Amino acid sequence: MENKKQLFETSLRKTNKKEKIFINQSKLFNWLDEASSKPDIKQFKEEIWKLKDAVEKEDTGIILSQPNGVEIKLDIFKKDLLQMLESNTLERGKYYAKRMKKQFSEVKTSKVNDINLRRWKDYEDIYTDSLWVIKQRSKEGSHLGWYWGNFIPQIPYQLIRRYTKKGELVVDPFVGSGTTLIECQRLGRHGLGVDLNIETVEKAQKQLELEGNGFQVKNKIVVGDSINFDFEKSINEMGFKAIDLLIMHPPYHDIISFSEDNRDLSNAETTEKFFEMFGKVVDKTIPLLKKGRYLGVVIGDKYSQGEWIPLGFYCMQEIMNRGLLLKSIVVKNFEETKGKRNQKALWRYRALAGGFYIFKHEYILIFRKS
Ligand SMILES: C[S@@+](CC[C@H](N)C(=O)[O-])C[C@H]1O[C@@H](n2cnc3c(N)ncnc32)[C@H](O)[C@@H]1O
Repeated sequence: MENKKQLFETSLRKTNKKEKIFINQSKLFNWLDEASSKPDIKQFKEEIWKLKDAVEKEDTGIILSQPNGVEIKLDIFKKDLLQMLESNTLERGKYYAKRMKKQFSEVKTSKVNDINLRRWKDYEDIYTDSLWVIKQRSKEGSHLGWYWGNFIPQIPYQLIRRYTKKGELVVDPFVGSGTTLIECQRLGRHGLGVDLNIETVEKAQKQLELEGNGFQVKNKIVVGDSINFDFEKSINEMGFKAIDLLIMHPPYHDIISFSEDNRDLSNAETTEKFFEMFGKVVDKTIPLLKKGRYLGVVIGDKYSQGEWIPLGFYCMQEIMNRGLLLKSIVVKNFEETKGKRNQKALWRYRALAGGFYIFKHEYILIFRKS
């Protein structure tokens, strides 16, 4: 038995994590019922071993060749079987068998997303830690990454998956190159994006068209000043009364200048003016956010005259002052901006000489409207 177990564990390690199979649900249930009806744990395990063998051999009695069955991740399924095989008592084995049946027959979701909590182990791609170390920008989708100051698609992807259901509405008042809306389109969410910069908006619209619209969602990117923009009118025109998720990625004050327009937050004369302008965008949008729903703000800090200016924390305070509940402060790594990439040594010298640390992180602040 021990040898058999070791072999199984080895095959588990070899299993390609992404491998999916389609299981015949009624056959699986019969198998689990049959095992559970056995008089002792030894016979229970024999039945589970047979099931595991059948799955591994892709026996057509249990695996369907086409996506007619229930999609499962093979490595997770095998781990669950291993748990049954490691049970010391029949009672425990039957408990795991019953739990497996629940995973396949019941759907339990929260009010804010489509994550099936009965199969929570399947969602390996969804982050739950507050530290996001992302090595590379995702290459999926029609994102070009051309816009200096854009964010990586993984950020809106994570927020959209965590805080919306299919068919809901996401609004981004600083949409830039359209990263949020491309992700909306890919994930079947409607989206409204606003940006001051005409050229950027035109390019973003083109990229969005290239993405295709498999879910037939309504997506709109418009040129506008989010401080004065009529978000209510725009979402009403799209057929909505309220917003399900707000994503904001404002300029990090003046560290990148996005235009010469004085309505642009990157042209705010002082940091105080920057917070005031940011606060106005919050005031324009928050009243339209549904109660119990989320706002994600992506922001980094800046240096000015030898001093670290915690833009992120000040913006966080602006939002908390408006009664939203802080749910998480996520710290995300970032690599050198294009400007600093060729000046690594110089920045290291400056840091050593100047008593500061080089920025390597930004924040994703998560709030809930109660
Ligand atoms: C950090 S970028 C957002 C990038 C975006 N997340 C992307 O992936 O491309 C900030 C954007 O805010 C826009 N912006 C600045 N002030 C604005 C305002 N008052 N109204 C609307 N957009 C504004 C800038 O034009 C810029 O595109």
